[in-house]
Amino acid sequence: MSDIKLNIGCGADYRPGFINIDASDVLSNVDKVIDLSVESLCHHFCNDSIDFIVANDFIEHHFHWEALNLLKDFHAILKPGGKCEIRVPDCSKIIKSWRLSTEEKLILLFGGQDVEQDGCEDMRFSRRKYPQLFCHKYGWTKDRLKKDLSIAGFSKVSFTSAGTNVVSIAIK
Ligand SMILES: C[S@@+](CC[C@H](N)C(=O)[O-])C[C@H]1O[C@@H](n2cnc3c(N)ncnc32)[C@H](O)[C@@H]1O
Repeated sequence: MSDIKLNIGCGADYRPGFINIDASDVLSNVDKVIDLSVESLCHHFCNDSIDFIVANDFIEHHFHWEALNLLKDFHAILKPGGKCEIRVPDCSKIIKSWRLSTEEKLILLFGGQDVEQDGCEDMRFSRRKYPQLFCHKYGWTKDRLKKDLSIAGFSKVSFTSAGTNVVSIAIK
C-alpha cells in the first residue's frame, strides 16, 4: 500500500500524491477543506495511520495553544516511525536581521493579513476573502519549536535553516 501523506495548510502548493488540506474553500486545488483551528485532524484521520506530514508556513497562523494541539495531533495520527516536516518563520533571525527593512520584518512577523501581496491569483483571492487565515498569531524560534515538539511527544528532531525560516523534521 502506498504511503499516506498530508500537506497541511497547502495554499497554492498543491502536491500530487498528498491529501492537500486548507481552510480556504476558494483555492482551485484542495482535497479537503478543514479549518484546523475549529476541527481536529484526529476527527478525520485515525491514530497511527499517516506516513508523512508537511506543514509549511502554517502553524504560525494559530495561537500558541492551538499550535501545540496541532503538534500533538500530528504526533497522534503519524505511524510509529512517521515523519513530519514543519517550516516556520524564524523570528529570532528576522528580528536580528540588518538586511530586512522594518516593513519586511513586520510582514514576516505578523503575516500579510489583508495587505495585497505578490503571488498567484488563487492566494490573492483567498487572502481577500479570508484575511484572518493570513495572520500570524504566534512567533516561533527554533528553541520554542524544539520544546513544543518534545511536549507533543516527538523525540527525534532535527533542524535546518532556510533563509528567514527554520525547518524541523520530527520522527514519531
Ligand atoms: C502562508 S500560506 C502557506 C501555504 C503553503 N503551505 C505554502 O508553503 O506555500 C498559509 C496557508 O494556511 C492556511 N490556513 C491558515 N489557517 C488555517 C486553518 N486554521 N486551517 C487550515 N488551513 C489554514 C491558509 O488558508 C493558507 O493557505
